[in-house]
Formats: sequence, C-alpha cells, structure tokens
Amino acid sequence: MIQVIPTTPYDDQKMGTAGLRKKSKVVMQEHYFENFLQSIFNTIHPEGKTFVVGGDGRFYNDIAVQKLIKMAAANGVKKLIVGQNGFLSTPASSNIILKRHTDGGFVLSASHNPGGENGDFGIKFATETGGQCSGQVSEQIYANSKNIREFKIFDAPNIDLSHLGSQKLGDMEIEVIDTVNDYVELMQKIFDFDALKKLFAKGFTMRFDAMNAVTGPYAIRIFEEILGAAKGSVLNATPKPDFGGLHPDPNLVYAKELVNIMYSDDAPDFGAANDGDGDRNMILGKKFFVTPSDSLAILTDNYNLIPAYKDGIFGVAKSMATSTAVARVAQEKKIGYYEVPTGWKYFVNLMDSNRITFCGEESFGTGSSHIREKDGIWAVLFWLSIIAATGKSVEQITREHWKKYGRSYYLRFDFDGIPTDVANKLMSDLEAKLPPLNGQKLGSYEVVKAEKFVYNDPVDHSSTSNGLRILFADGSRIVYRLSGTSSSGATLRVYIEKFSRDNLDSDPRQMVDELLKIAAELAEIEKRTGKTKADVTT
Ligand code: G1P
Ligand code: ZN
Repeated sequence: MIQVIPTTPYDDQKMGTAGLRKKSKVVMQEHYFENFLQSIFNTIHPEGKTFVVGGDGRFYNDIAVQKLIKMAAANGVKKLIVGQNGFLSTPASSNIILKRHTDGGFVLSASHNPGGENGDFGIKFATETGGQCSGQVSEQIYANSKNIREFKIFDAPNIDLSHLGSQKLGDMEIEVIDTVNDYVELMQKIFDFDALKKLFAKGFTMRFDAMNAVTGPYAIRIFEEILGAAKGSVLNATPKPDFGGLHPDPNLVYAKELVNIMYSDDAPDFGAANDGDGDRNMILGKKFFVTPSDSLAILTDNYNLIPAYKDGIFGVAKSMATSTAVARVAQEKKIGYYEVPTGWKYFVNLMDSNRITFCGEESFGTGSSHIREKDGIWAVLFWLSIIAATGKSVEQITREHWKKYGRSYYLRFDFDGIPTDVANKLMSDLEAKLPPLNGQKLGSYEVVKAEKFVYNDPVDHSSTSNGLRILFADGSRIVYRLSGTSSSGATLRVYIEKFSRDNLDSDPRQMVDELLKIAAELAEIEKRTGKTKADVTT
C-alpha cells in the first residue's frame, strides 16, 4: 500500500524567515507539496518518530494535511498528533510538541499573509525544541529538494479528522486532539484567571479580532466562556479558508474593523487582534495604539505581576530591528539582554539555555519561554493581567512607561514588489557606503556606528548576518532589511527609531521624518525603485 512516486525537483523550495511560504497556486502545482515534505523526511529521518500536525485552516489546509498524513505513514512515522479537522494555532502546536515530548511538528500556515486560492500557503517545520528548525537544517532540506527524484505516499482514502481519538494508517497511529484544551490549560498555569474574571465581572469591556482565522475558537473559549467577557467580544471568530477576504495581519492597516471600533467615541476598554496562525498580536486602548516594541518593554517591566514570572525572569531578547525600548528596561531590571536576527527561531537557543524568558519583534510578535513560538493570546492575557493588577488603562500604562524610560518613536516603512536583483544591489551598494559614515553627521544626527548586523549565537556559535544598521549618538537608529517572507519579488523594510527622553507626546510620523529622509536618500530608494513613498507603514 506504500507507493513510490517518481517526481521532478522544483528549484525554489527554500525556507525564509519562517518556513516555506508561496502563492497557493505554486504549492498546488503537481507534487510541489509532496516534494517539499519528502525533502524534510529525507533530511530528518522520521522513522519511529512522533510529530504534531495542524494548520491555520487556510485554503489547501485540508488537502495538504491529508497528503502529510499519508506521506508520514509511508515514511515510517510512528505517530501523528493532529488538531481536530487539521487545525492548530502555531503557539498551540509548539505547546503540544513540548508537552508531549514529540520529535517536532508541522504547521500548515503562511501566518499573516492573505489566504485563498489567490493568496498564500506555507509550511513551518518545528523540531523537538518546539521551535522552527535552524537555518542549517533548512539549508539541508533545500539541498535535498533540488535533487529529489521520488516520494513515498500511503495509498488510502482520506482520514476522518473530525472525531477525537486514535486510529491507524498502516502501522502509524493518528491521534486527533481537541485544538484548544491543552493551550487553555497552559494559559491557566501562567496567569491568574480569577483576577481576570473579577476584571470582567466589574464590567471591563474588550474586543478581540480573530480576523476569520485560527484563533477564533481559542478566544471564544478563553475570553468569553472562561473569563466572562460579554458575548460578541470576539469578532470574526469563525476560521474561513480565505479569511473572509481579510489580510490576517494584526496592525493598524489591516485590522480595520477593530481599529474603527477602538477609535470610536464608545470604544471598549481594550482591543486586540491576532494573525492567521495566532502568533502575532496588536494591542489597543481607547483611541490608543501600543507599538509592539513598546509592548515588549512594558510586559518585561511588569513581569512581577504575573504568577508564572513573579519570582524573576532570566532575561529578554528582541530582533535587532525592534526598537530599543526593552533594552532600557533590561538595564534598569539588571537582566540579560540580547539582539538577534529577525525570525523567532533565533530566540530558541537563548530560551533553551535559560538566558531569556521574554522575547519580541517589532512585527507584532511577543512571547516567552512557555513555548518556542510567539504567542498572540498570551500577550493579550498579559496586558489584561497588568490592567487587572494596576487598575490603569492601556494608555495610562504606556504613558507612565514613557515617563520612566523615555520614548522610542518607531515606524516601519515597507517598499513592496521590488525586483529581487534591484533590491539585492541596493543593499550591497548601501553596505559598501556604511563604514565611512562612522563619526560623521547625517543631517542633525551624529553617526556612532554604521554596519552590517552580524549575530553570533552564544549557544551553537553559528553566525548570521541580517540587515544593515546606523546607530546615532542620541539613541536613534535606522535599520534596513530585505524581507524573508514575501511570496514573490522583494520587500525592502526600513525601520526608523527616534529616541526622546522628554518629548513624549508628539506625532510619530513627524518625529521620524528627518531620519526617514536620510534613510531614503542614503539608500537611493526613489532612484532605484521608482518609489517616492512606502507601500505600507506600520
Ligand atoms: C516577518 C517579520 C518577522 C517575523 C516573520 C514571521 O519577516 O518581519 O519579524 O518573524 O515575518 O512572522 P520578514 O518578512 O521581515 O523576513
Ligand atoms: Zn503568524
């Protein structure tokens, strides 16, 4: 019943910042998914091993999960733990990998990218750490995919994934689990649910936008059913294959419905959104937005309010591009502080070696060592816990934080759809321009360091370069990177941070204006790309 099917390689199965991410139509090509999966199996030797399987429910999730199950059975996998109907959020999957001590897992998701037949599809592969495989492993998988000649698949009808419990396919066991239960249990261990229930009992109001993606059922259970938030607090709660046409990226641009509610005169006390697979989050107060970089700093500053962290935390890490707000908290709290390349996988070694407890990225990702992925609902529960403990609003908490530490005005400018060769040339020419800038003035800013960012992992001693940065004497920064998640063409990201100790209440766009102009001129963005302004600003 095991079929060995001949195939021809594709040349583009290289994982980016977070797994393989492609247009759905690319993944739907003949044997495309099978080739990639077999390349993973050829690399990791899955015989006798156990893996977790789930996805964010996007278009092709149902077909891909069946292929994955049949190929796992044919490749000697011992057991798969599969979320009901093939669903699991990325954080829930990481939790099961750790809790059940499995050998890794697969999340079928392109995260915050749009779904549907004309949208994107993706596959993330995690190891036994609960985090995504390292760059070295993904290189081996890529090398394998370029030479693949055959794949193995079990010839069987589709597996029913709607009922909980165990079944067999050949010698492999398939255990279908509830998608929400284990995750809720984990959250209950970290946070004081009684305190949160009291907050809602006092009439506290919130809206959580699940953006028609995977977190709807998690949010309904936790916020409405357990904590007692009013019915209807969770918006867009039913996962849909095309996310109802939404771009499930929780930011001010794409989470429009929530943003409109939170900026209206009868806004609820608190607003939050998660992305397609539940690892990203956005936090809003009444007519107030918390940048993800500030959010990481504020959570870190308040760790003592949370039962799981009240006895102390190891340290904190951020991706280099993320603002330096959390660095000032780490210094004040005298805890370890690390800057890593963009991508959650770089935090895993730091968590495993007890160097850090919290970590975050400017791209709406925050998390802790309770799992090895970022975690959207965890961040929301953390914010609610701070509110419950202090009785303060989101805005008050944030403003007090700025008063104590100063404010990093921070914006990211994305220039999308640039031809790859143009983008690569822009970056290499820019890199060559940096060394002479040291000690020079750019506009009214004095450069203290202009360099390519290189990260040396203190655990596995690997070295990764990721982006270019210019650091200024007043604590401001310009960072340039090319995205590693675009499904076609290149996206140039320009991150601008303007630090101010005492000017705390200005317009961020104005505050970063001079630095943005400096950044654009230095990189010759208009000349090389024809773009006079960014396509998306977050
Ligand atoms: C983007 C974000 C990055 C995040 C990744 C996966 O990657 O910038 O912080 O880890 O998505 O969610 P990028 O496209 O910049 O490589
Ligand atoms: Zn995601």
